[in-house]
Amino acid sequence: MSLFRSRLAKEFDDRTARFHTSVVEDLRIFEDDINGTEAHDIMLHEQGIIPREALAKILTALEEIRAQWRAGEVEIGAEYEDVHEYIETKVVERVGLDVGGMIHTGRSRNDQVVVDMRLRTREELLAINAQLIELVEALLKRAGENVETLMMLYTHGQHAQVGTFAHYLVSYADAFLRDSQRLSECYSRVNLNPLGSGPVGGTSINVDRRKTTELLGFDGLVENSIDATSGRDWAVETASTCAILMGNLSRAAADLLEWSSVEFAYVELADEYASSSSIMPQKKNPSTLELIRGKSSEVYGCLSELLTMVKGVNSGYSQDLQQTKIPLWRCLDTTRTSLEVMTGIVSTLAVNEAKMRERLKGSLTVAVELAETLVTEAGLSFRESYRTAAALVRKVLAEGRTLSALTPSEIDAVAEEVLGKGAQISQEHLDQATDPEACLMRRKSEGSPHPDHVRAMLEKRAELVKVYRIHIEAQTGKVSGALESLRGKVASYSEG
Ligand code: ARG
Repeated sequence: MSLFRSRLAKEFDDRTARFHTSVVEDLRIFEDDINGTEAHDIMLHEQGIIPREALAKILTALEEIRAQWRAGEVEIGAEYEDVHEYIETKVVERVGLDVGGMIHTGRSRNDQVVVDMRLRTREELLAINAQLIELVEALLKRAGENVETLMMLYTHGQHAQVGTFAHYLVSYADAFLRDSQRLSECYSRVNLNPLGSGPVGGTSINVDRRKTTELLGFDGLVENSIDATSGRDWAVETASTCAILMGNLSRAAADLLEWSSVEFAYVELADEYASSSSIMPQKKNPSTLELIRGKSSEVYGCLSELLTMVKGVNSGYSQDLQQTKIPLWRCLDTTRTSLEVMTGIVSTLAVNEAKMRERLKGSLTVAVELAETLVTEAGLSFRESYRTAAALVRKVLAEGRTLSALTPSEIDAVAEEVLGKGAQISQEHLDQATDPEACLMRRKSEGSPHPDHVRAMLEKRAELVKVYRIHIEAQTGKVSGALESLRGKVASYSEG
């Protein structure tokens, strides 16, 4: 007879049981459920509700179940509604209904499941954040090697300005650092304790919610019992944080994909991160990057699933909420594995500096620099110099030349023609304005690709990475410290 069906005359029929059970998605919270139950029961004992001897038997039974789980000996089928029913049933089988029947005192599956989900999610968030910081470090390391690697910058997919590969890499390090902040913020709202809220309106049992908060290493309480049992905005926030992060990964993947093409050949993935073709022997496919881009959609799907799943659910637990675990686990897994692969790709990427430089040779991309030189050296207004430079671009295009091949007197003549007044610059200024490297060295604005600016950015980011890492390690340390001391308490109470 199932543990939770005393009110009902019959068991679920088989099909309904399979339809209704959450045991598959619950496997992920198996140990969290044991931890949550141990903390709850230790608290009940310390509140004078479960006698010491009974607690010892309960904890021993729970630890035996944990050992079986770790040994891969647990098989849970649809005969159980969920992992909560399975674990309680197994405790009762071991120690009898008089003792095992105490474990659920002052608790509902509604606060139980959400405590398990929060325990699991907080660990996943910490692991994702740690992996993200590794990616940022990889980006910064590669940036450090490429501060003077000249690269074309594009807008609308067209040649825009001279930049460097390091400057580009830092742009993504910055986006991922913001993702890391978002993960930490989200974590602070996930790592709160809903346990002790009962089914929806609390319990008349004298539970100590602050005790379980401490035992489980939560940072605080989800105070209101309705909010604690039926709120899932923290799960939506987790998925949206992952979705934003995956969007950043996807954009970076799109760049690297384009630059991996034979036409660009700016970068080449290490063989470990590339695939080949079943028929075309020459192929080296950057398919891992395509998958990162594709998997970002999967995570958006999880977010949208969660948003729509909870928006119409009245307050107070409804079974719909059981479904939230599926997209939540999926988005956490996909985000984590995508980050792992991207970290590997970035760390091992071959950078073809010569190809990048070749693209800049003779490119019209120096036209902005030429226009700005006419402002600073010939005293034209920007719009005057812009018109002159545009006329020069048309002229060299028509004549099949490059801007660097122009002479000061040709520029003077074109200005005369376009503006009705001349524009004198020296040969030296002209050479500087039309040489990609000199262009880069002339960039003044903070945050530009000028190597000095990029070096300054790298120094600041290296500091940030240290601070973020310390923060994540502190959060991780608090969690593992609490779980370790819970283990200690369990061991000493189990001795009876
Ligand atoms: N299995 C459920 C879930 O995953 C928890 C149980 C809540 N069920 C209930 N009848 N109140 O959300």
